[in-house]
Amino acid sequence: MIKRLALILLVVPLFTYGQKGKKVLKQQNNNLENYRPAYHFSPKSGWMNDPNGLVYLDGEYHLFFQHNPDQPVWGPMHWGHAISTDLIHWKELPIALFPDSLGTIFSGSAVVDKGNTAGFGKDALVAIYTNHSHEIEKKKTGLHQTQSIAYSLDKGKTWIKYKGNPVIANPGVWDFRDPKVSWHKETGQWIMALATKQSITFYGSKDLKAWGKLSEFGKGIGAHGGVWECPDLIRFNTKEGEKWVLLVSINPGGPNTGSATQYFVGSFDGHTFTTDQKDIRWMDYGPDNYAGVTFSNTGERNLLIGWMSNWEYANQVPSETWRSGNTIVRELGLVKNETGWMLTSTPVAELDKTSKSVLKSKNIPVNKTTDLSKAFAQLGNTVDASFTLDNLVDFKVELSNEDGDRLIFGFDKKKNEYFIDRSKAGETNFSDKFITNPVAPRTVKAVGSDLRFLLDRNSIELFADNGMTVMSALFFIKKAFTQLVIRTNEHVVLKDFSVKKVN
Ligand code: FRU
Repeated sequence: MIKRLALILLVVPLFTYGQKGKKVLKQQNNNLENYRPAYHFSPKSGWMNDPNGLVYLDGEYHLFFQHNPDQPVWGPMHWGHAISTDLIHWKELPIALFPDSLGTIFSGSAVVDKGNTAGFGKDALVAIYTNHSHEIEKKKTGLHQTQSIAYSLDKGKTWIKYKGNPVIANPGVWDFRDPKVSWHKETGQWIMALATKQSITFYGSKDLKAWGKLSEFGKGIGAHGGVWECPDLIRFNTKEGEKWVLLVSINPGGPNTGSATQYFVGSFDGHTFTTDQKDIRWMDYGPDNYAGVTFSNTGERNLLIGWMSNWEYANQVPSETWRSGNTIVRELGLVKNETGWMLTSTPVAELDKTSKSVLKSKNIPVNKTTDLSKAFAQLGNTVDASFTLDNLVDFKVELSNEDGDRLIFGFDKKKNEYFIDRSKAGETNFSDKFITNPVAPRTVKAVGSDLRFLLDRNSIELFADNGMTVMSALFFIKKAFTQLVIRTNEHVVLKDFSVKKVN
């Protein structure tokens, strides 16, 4: 069976087991009317933005998120909560943090306090977040954002706010938020990366309560088209030793306008982050990946979730009772190429466990137009597909449905750019800021390329060159794509073409 799968083009019908254990053909949900993703997290109702407090504890991954439970638009921020044991399927739990006398609850992080440094208890989960006071904001003093902490002794179910909040008062900086905290073993302290206007300020603490300023990073470096938000300082152990990556989300000022996340590769000595990087680098060139940060307590694995939207139009997208989903969880890597150390992102390996192979083919010759719809027709837009090209030529992958919606992505050799064209993929007129033709430069020089794309009803995530160039984009169609056609003017062979249905 395995041999046959590997050798020939094979379309496997999708079977599942009925209640009585009988094999039945799985019902496909081809109605995408409410735009809700199938295998990406979205809140049951209300509004969601940034992922917060990503942390692993005792077999559970916790995802907290910026949440307005009462309306599907941004409003008074709470921390919503969901957990997963496999990083793919999420269960939404009751709200974790509610607004209080210090303000609403903006973005932040969570850690497992293994050494009981804060004295809340061994292995307490401690959340470090921004309190945003709308009352103080009105006074225009710039003192409205402060940092606070809360802890949980029952694995995130209930939370107690620390009586000494705020733990960092505002020194008069209008944008002063989104603390991301990690343990720095060499100096025996907690390090906080905090977004401060258009820079990142690092603080240090022995107990998560008393914080001292260490250093500031960002003047004259990187993209400054908008405010800096949601930083994350990440350690990588490479063959050439330890490297550090600083993620900084910026809004607006992204490469395709609007929100996006830039990164810096450098070193961190427990006090200062330094880099000799001169160019601006983006973690994801697509319009819909913002405020991404990594999990705490996952060992050497750096696992990131981003918010799959863009502040340019997030409040207007045409879902109704809820708004926004997340990106797939991505494993970050650091790879050295001609440009230097580059960040790569690829879907977590856990995704493979929940998907079922529908088509596997070693070689598919593509000449002008090649129709691969047969393998694609019944998948209901929950797809994980990939292929490699020995020789990277101009090509377009076109997905379409019976309504005439068309999503196109591919590569433009002359411009050396990957692209997504969502201009004809359903509703686009809910906002004139909806960027319809995002592009991304190719940064590797290899002759061939590999491409993987995840479709989840109304989103696409494109990973090219082993995750070196990534694009995430939403679109809004009502019926699932049933056709997949590849177009090129050259003769090329698609190698290892694989299509999987994600369950
Ligand atoms: C980023 C952001 C954060 C802030 C939060 C408020 O998307 O603006 O800087 O903490 O959203 O919801």
